[in-house]
Amino acid sequence: MSRSPDAQRMEKIVSLCKRRGFVFQSSEIYGGLNGCWDYGPLGVELKRNLKNYWWHVMVHERDDVVGMDGSILMNRAVWKASGHEDTFSDPMVDCRSCKARLRADQVIERKGVRQCPNCGGKDLTEPRPFNLMFMTYVGATEDESSITYLRPETAQSIFVQFKNVLEVSRKKLPFGIAQIGKAFRNEINPRNFTFRSREFEQMELEYFCRAEEGMKLLDYWLEERLKFYQNIGISREKLHARTVPDEERAFYSKGTYDIEYDFPFGWQELEGVAYRTDYDLSQHQNASGKSLEYFDEETKQRFVPHVVEPSAGVDRTVLALICEAYSEDEAPDEKGEMETRLVLRFHPRMAPIKCGVFPLLKNKEPLVAKAKEIIDLLRPHLTVFYDESGAIGRRYRRQDEIGTPFGVTVDFETLGEKDAALCDTVTLRERDSMKQERVAINDLAAILASRIS
Ligand code: GAP
Repeated sequence: MSRSPDAQRMEKIVSLCKRRGFVFQSSEIYGGLNGCWDYGPLGVELKRNLKNYWWHVMVHERDDVVGMDGSILMNRAVWKASGHEDTFSDPMVDCRSCKARLRADQVIERKGVRQCPNCGGKDLTEPRPFNLMFMTYVGATEDESSITYLRPETAQSIFVQFKNVLEVSRKKLPFGIAQIGKAFRNEINPRNFTFRSREFEQMELEYFCRAEEGMKLLDYWLEERLKFYQNIGISREKLHARTVPDEERAFYSKGTYDIEYDFPFGWQELEGVAYRTDYDLSQHQNASGKSLEYFDEETKQRFVPHVVEPSAGVDRTVLALICEAYSEDEAPDEKGEMETRLVLRFHPRMAPIKCGVFPLLKNKEPLVAKAKEIIDLLRPHLTVFYDESGAIGRRYRRQDEIGTPFGVTVDFETLGEKDAALCDTVTLRERDSMKQERVAINDLAAILASRIS
């Protein structure tokens, strides 16, 4: 059976990610570890650009948000109080024929008979809950008293530090606490490349407010977050805000939206924006016996704040950025014949490398020296890549394939050999249009900075 165009596109994306060093399988030389991924030299730059931009927009640009960085291991009592120990589970079914362990919603049903999607077997166990938290022991003894879990979300450290952060930041409601960090879930079926992983990163904001502000702030944050995705280069048509229906929503949430992206494997969640009422702080206040109340100096009232939470996945957004950027078009090769060009059309803000610098010929010392001078000039301002090997067209293609938005070529005109007026100018090539312009070396840093931000 031939693969659908979307499946083929996804295969090409996965293969490009490995070939060019965006994402590798974790522990690859030992056969990998299912659901775990390593980011290579380009992937880590892309991921950092995303996290830095999120932090910039959500923390630095705002007066009402501060950041924190919590530990991954926390007191087990946190997970009891939050409800994770008892209820953070997926219903799981075992196939007795092929031994596959399946999420209950993956079981297919034909004419009222449940079947294994792997082998078609009908001998399946009844669904039973499977807790998704990774359990571990803290300290030398491995017994009940030393159990804890790798955190399955970053949010809980924000809730349990609410009072400390409030005191040191002296913020007034409404205000938020932001965090980016690792989270771990023992997913029954990790799949779709990095989309559903067992180790991943989250970018979460807990925005505390008064009860009466909750629903309005939920809509406010949905709009802010949709804007964010557009500002990193995701087109609006590929984003969808799904109102999570009552029956799917956590019992304590008064409203939740899922921001979904049109991946090659279908519409899938990038981020949840949830109005969680005062559930989390109240749970921790009750379980710890410590007040997590806010004192309103104007009304002299004391109360547990409500919270609106935009919670985004770093890895899923990186994958969406790559899927969005991946394109194939036609461009002339060295002989002027049209060939397929593979290009990642990243927003310049997200691109791992911002500018390639190329001497026209590698065996002409003055060209090489000038290109290296330009590298030194640009390096303090942006990520650059020097490449002198192969025909210039090939070098452009290599950068197109990793999404470098700009390319600078040093040629004989740069040296003033043809026309003194062109001395110390270079060609600046733009990735998507492939248009070239002549600019002065002295203006390069400013021109690039203005086009990247
Ligand atoms: N604090 C709320 C919370 O954790 P969630 O919907 O379970 O909510 C938030 O997770 C985001 O974290 C998701 O929208 C997704 O982007 C990301 N995420 C969750 N599980 C993931 C997984 N197994 N692999 C990759 N990303 C995941």
